[in-house]
Amino acid sequence: MKNIVVAGGARGIGGAISKRLAREAARLYVLDLDSASAEATVADIRRGGVEAEFVRCDVSSWADVSSAAELIRAAAGRLDVAVNSVGIFDFRKGLMDTPEAEFDRIIRVNLKGAFLFSKAFVPLLRGEPKGNMIHIGSINGVLAGAGLSAYKVSKAALHMLARCLAIELAPEGIRVNVVMPGWVETPGERAWAADELAKDPDFFKKCAARSVPMGRLQTPEEIAECVAFAASEAASAITGALVPVSGGLGI
Ligand SMILES: NC(=O)c1ccc[n+]([C@@H]2O[C@H](COP(=O)([O-])OP(=O)(O)OC[C@H]3O[C@@H](n4cnc5c(N)ncnc54)[C@H](O)[C@@H]3O)[C@@H](O)[C@H]2O)c1
Repeated sequence: MKNIVVAGGARGIGGAISKRLAREAARLYVLDLDSASAEATVADIRRGGVEAEFVRCDVSSWADVSSAAELIRAAAGRLDVAVNSVGIFDFRKGLMDTPEAEFDRIIRVNLKGAFLFSKAFVPLLRGEPKGNMIHIGSINGVLAGAGLSAYKVSKAALHMLARCLAIELAPEGIRVNVVMPGWVETPGERAWAADELAKDPDFFKKCAARSVPMGRLQTPEEIAECVAFAASEAASAITGALVPVSGGLGI
């Protein structure tokens, strides 16, 4: 049984990842800022007999991330799997309309957060058996466009960060992969499209029917299944991969 950390693991895609990986976990740590959702997810996991703990942590703060890693090291010794599912969206602006502060905020959480998470948790993946790391990227990180631009830039850079880490850590036997969701209905996604959803509750379904080759949204559980595979021994030779789970969107 594994020791696992999931950043952004309180709700949405990260919540589904926490619950899916808990099936293989001895201990699972949820790092997040949304205490209410995190406590609910942790309580759900505990009901399945797994030790689970919520650690309040802003991944864009080194003080928070390093103290979370220290807390986990002291309690669990080492980690088998570290997943970073944190991501914030911007508001459909092109770069010319994106205020500097918003650009900074998106890069700080989505990119610098991934860097700090990696820096703090890779040391816990060392030792035997080797652990592995998975970052949640986005199909938006490979699709250029004139909206959601700061988000796209942050995710494209996150993909490269993970691939560089994969090469850097390969000699040590530590794998690093990226799972790229396409379009998934989550609390974050609903907040992002609140205006459209107020006008038309089927907004997501209609957009997906038009733009996703498979004609539908993906579910958080479908993303979590791919993460579980990437984290498993079945993926023992896979590192530096960018895996779309997008119903064909953006491939
Ligand atoms: N929903 C989609 O369609 C979609 C598509 C592609 C990629 N993604 C990516 O999937 C991941 C999860 O997205 P989601 O849709 O589930 O979003 P969400 O907003 O529902 O969940 C994100 C989680 O991250 C947490 N979080 C936000 N900022 C944080 C911070 N600074 N430190 C720690 N935790 C923080 C939130 O509290 C929340 O629990 C993100 O990386 C997102 O970019 C989502």
